[in-house]
Amino acid sequence: MTRSLLLLGDAGGLARRMAPLAGELGLVLAQDGDHPPPPSELAVVVVDLARPRALEELASWRQQAPEAVLVAHLAAPDRTLWESAERLGCDLVTNRGALLVRLRARLSGGTAPSRRLFPLFDASEVAGRLGLVQRVATTPVGPVAVYQVGGTLSCLEDVCPHGGATVSEGELDGLLLTCPGHGSRFDVATGERLRGPADCALRRFEVTEREGRIQLLWR
Ligand code: FES
Repeated sequence: MTRSLLLLGDAGGLARRMAPLAGELGLVLAQDGDHPPPPSELAVVVVDLARPRALEELASWRQQAPEAVLVAHLAAPDRTLWESAERLGCDLVTNRGALLVRLRARLSGGTAPSRRLFPLFDASEVAGRLGLVQRVATTPVGPVAVYQVGGTLSCLEDVCPHGGATVSEGELDGLLLTCPGHGSRFDVATGERLRGPADCALRRFEVTEREGRIQLLWR
């Protein structure tokens, strides 16, 4: 099957620089003005964030081609744009100098999709705090709550699997988190269910710190 690299925007001669990489990876390079390849053929979509409506395009391609590697290219530093692109589910957000290197590394790394990053909050906001340190209502995995326990961050889904209550509004006593809905209990460090009526654990998500931001790792 034909596999394509769709490039939307040509700031700074992007197309000229991408063409050798596409050839090296056996991808057909398609650009604005070309007949767009069917989403099922797309291996990579690169969107230049300098384009008008670039963020809308990213959101649209994320939906249309969920398996493609979605890349946002930033010609000049802009943290707001960078984070917006990450929140839309980009696999890579990169600036001019790093684009080819990072994309080559990403595509040479095998077929297993890597996890995506979603920025949650600044690490400085939670430094030195314990217990519930942050709620984030909108993420790709739904509402989450982040707790600091034993020197590490524990990120748990914030919707009770029993009746949908906001679990982080319940009582936290040491590692014991009690749902305000009907009293289910969970281990805040692991999400493990300790007492019903909920019949399963809270999902726990991995987080990591990058450049001073706490980021959710998700697929
Ligand atoms: S909603 Fe949490 S125990 Fe019922």
